[in-house]
Amino acid sequence: MKEDPVGSKEYFDRVAAEWDELRRDFFSESLREKAIEAANVKPGMIAVDVGAGTGFVTEGLVKKGVNVIAVDQSEAMLSQIKKKFGSAGAIDLRRGEAENLPVDDRVADCVFANMFLHHVEKPSVAIAEMGRILKKDGVLIVTDLDEHDFNFLRNEQHDRWLGFKREDIRRWLKQAGLKRIRVECANENCCSHSVSCSEEAKISIFMAIARK
Ligand SMILES: C[S@@+](CC[C@H](N)C(=O)[O-])C[C@H]1O[C@@H](n2cnc3c(N)ncnc32)[C@H](O)[C@@H]1O
Repeated sequence: MKEDPVGSKEYFDRVAAEWDELRRDFFSESLREKAIEAANVKPGMIAVDVGAGTGFVTEGLVKKGVNVIAVDQSEAMLSQIKKKFGSAGAIDLRRGEAENLPVDDRVADCVFANMFLHHVEKPSVAIAEMGRILKKDGVLIVTDLDEHDFNFLRNEQHDRWLGFKREDIRRWLKQAGLKRIRVECANENCCSHSVSCSEEAKISIFMAIARK
């Protein structure tokens, strides 16, 4: 883990307006479809999209008739969601932090965290928080990076963690009291290059699925 003196909030506030364009190069829509399929969502369910950004996962969920609470630390990111979806009743925007989510206990049928965990200071606490807001039998889907050594992502994109060992994710899910834990390859990659183009990263993505 790395200290983040500039601050990931400042970084994400700054890139919010261009995040959709950046994100398209990093990972594909099929990742979102796999995550949503794994949760077996139904119309009328309540989902929380944690570290929602500009609403990549939120958008897929709304299309399925799911009511979404989108949480992010960055007001600028949340404003982009508002701009895209207007005041559509199905999306509830909340500014908040990973370690103290602005959501009551046992509210969510499903919780999604796509490419969020490697930005937080304490991923085990963030996972426990996501577990706290799940209803009994609710499902948590975390899609994130496997462990890698592309250091430029720390300096250029404010990644605090260079991905994760899947056994750590499994342990944190277990510590959070979650069950039926699976941490598997999503068969997707995250692709990025350094500003100077001297380094090219292609990092495999895992999908963790667990129930309360
Ligand atoms: C890489 S982006 C992913 C956004 C979105 N999930 C997607 O798939 O496009 C990470 C998001 O997590 C948010 N984030 C990072 N650290 C956070 C924290 N500690 N608490 C809440 N949100 C955080 C950032 O503001 C950013 O919008």
